Amino acid sequence: MLNAPRLDGIDPFAASVRGITAPDPVHAALRAAGPLVQVDAPAGGPAWIVTEDGLAREVLADPRIVKDPACAPPGWDRHTAGLEQTAAEQPSLTTLDGPEHAALRRAHAPLLGARRIRAQSDRVHAIARELLTELAADRTVVDLMAGFTTRYPLTVLLDLLGIPLGEVDRAADACRRMLGNEPGEQKRAIDALSALAASGLGDGGRGLAAELRDRAPVHSTRDQLQYHLFALIFAGQLTTDAALGTLIARALTDGPHPAPPDEGGRDDLVDETLGQHPPAPFTLWRFTTTELELAGTRLPARAPVLVDILGINTDPARSPGPGLTFGAGPHFCIGAQLARLELRAVVTVLRTDFPEARLAVPFGELRQATIGGLQGSRLTALPVALHG
Ligand code: HEM
Repeated sequence: MLNAPRLDGIDPFAASVRGITAPDPVHAALRAAGPLVQVDAPAGGPAWIVTEDGLAREVLADPRIVKDPACAPPGWDRHTAGLEQTAAEQPSLTTLDGPEHAALRRAHAPLLGARRIRAQSDRVHAIARELLTELAADRTVVDLMAGFTTRYPLTVLLDLLGIPLGEVDRAADACRRMLGNEPGEQKRAIDALSALAASGLGDGGRGLAAELRDRAPVHSTRDQLQYHLFALIFAGQLTTDAALGTLIARALTDGPHPAPPDEGGRDDLVDETLGQHPPAPFTLWRFTTTELELAGTRLPARAPVLVDILGINTDPARSPGPGLTFGAGPHFCIGAQLARLELRAVVTVLRTDFPEARLAVPFGELRQATIGGLQGSRLTALPVALHG
C-alpha cells in the first residue's frame, strides 16, 4: 500500500495577493506531487487533495464520500474549517447526499435548468445594460469590482427569486460579511440573507422562491426554505462576482471593441476564462464514510478530501474536454446555466453598448487576492473607462 505524497513547504490554503499574469505556485506544486496529495488541513490533521481528472470524477461520484459535516474529523472546529451545520441540523443541497439530496435537486432543477434560464436572457441583458449605463453616466473611470461585479449577479438573483431589488445593497453587505472573521459574523450574515429570502416566499411571491416553496419536499420547514434560498444567493454571488472580474479584464484587454459581437468568440472567451481561472479553485469539503482506497492510498473513515479544480483544469497534460469549473457528479453546480448566461450577457452588452470601453490600467498591472481557505481569487480592482 502506498502513502500519498505530502506537500511540504507550501500552504495551499494561505491568503495571497499576486499579479493577474503571475503563475500560481500552489496548484502546479500539488499537481506535480501526485494524483492524491496529503496536506495539513486548516482545521488540523491531514487532508487529501485529488489533482487528477479521472480520479476527481470518481471521487465526486462516489457515494462513500459525502458532504455532511457530521462526517468531518472529530476534532475539527466548524468555523476554522468553514463548514456548514450538519445535514441533520440544516438539510441543504450542500450538506445532504443520496436520495434526500436527489429529492432536493429535483425540486430546484427545473427552476435553474437550461430552458428556464434561456427565457431569462433578455432580462439578464437588460440588468447588465442598466447597471453599466448607470455607472457610465459621469464618464469617469469606474472600478467595476467595487461598482458592478457584486451588484450585477445579486440583482439578477434577487430579480429571479422575486425578492425586491431594493434589498440588493443589504444582500451585498451580507455576502461580504460571510467572508469575515469576526465571531458570530457569518451567522448574522446568514440570518440577514435568510430574512431577505423570506420576502420572496410570501403568499404573493411570484418568483422562483415561491416556486421552490411549492416544489420543495413536503416536510420542508420555512427555515429550511429560507436556507435553500440563502445558499443560492451566496453561492451564486461569490463565484460569479470573481468570474466577472477576470472575464471583463480579458474582454477589454486588447482595447476598444468596435466590432459587432461575435457569439462564437464571446462563448469561447467565457469558457476559456472559466476554465483557466475557475472562481472556485477547490470543491467544498467531502468526507469518507468508511475506510477506502484512493490512488493506492488507504484513507481512514472521516478523512477530509478536496478536488483541486484549478490544478486539474490548467494541467497541460489534460485531454481536451469539459473542465471541473462547475464540479461533477450529483453536486454539479445547479447555477451553471445562469452563471454562463450572466457572463455572456456582460460581454455582449460591453461590445454593443460600450464599444469604446477599455481598461484604464495595463492588463498586467491588475492584481488578484484570495483570503485563503477554499476561497478563490478576486481582482482587487478593475478600473475601466466605459466610454474609452
Ligand atoms: C461562475 C460561477 C459559478 C461557479 C464557478 C460555480 C462553481 C460551483 C462548483 C464547483 C460547485 C460544486 C461544489 C462541490 O461539488 O463541492 C457548485 C455547486 C453549487 N452551486 Fe455553483 N458556481 C457558480 C455559479 C452559481 C450560481 C449562479 C448559483 C445559483 C444560482 C450557484 C449555486 C450552487 C449551488 C446551490 C451548489 C450546490 C449544488 C449541490 O451541492 O447539489 N452556483 N458551484
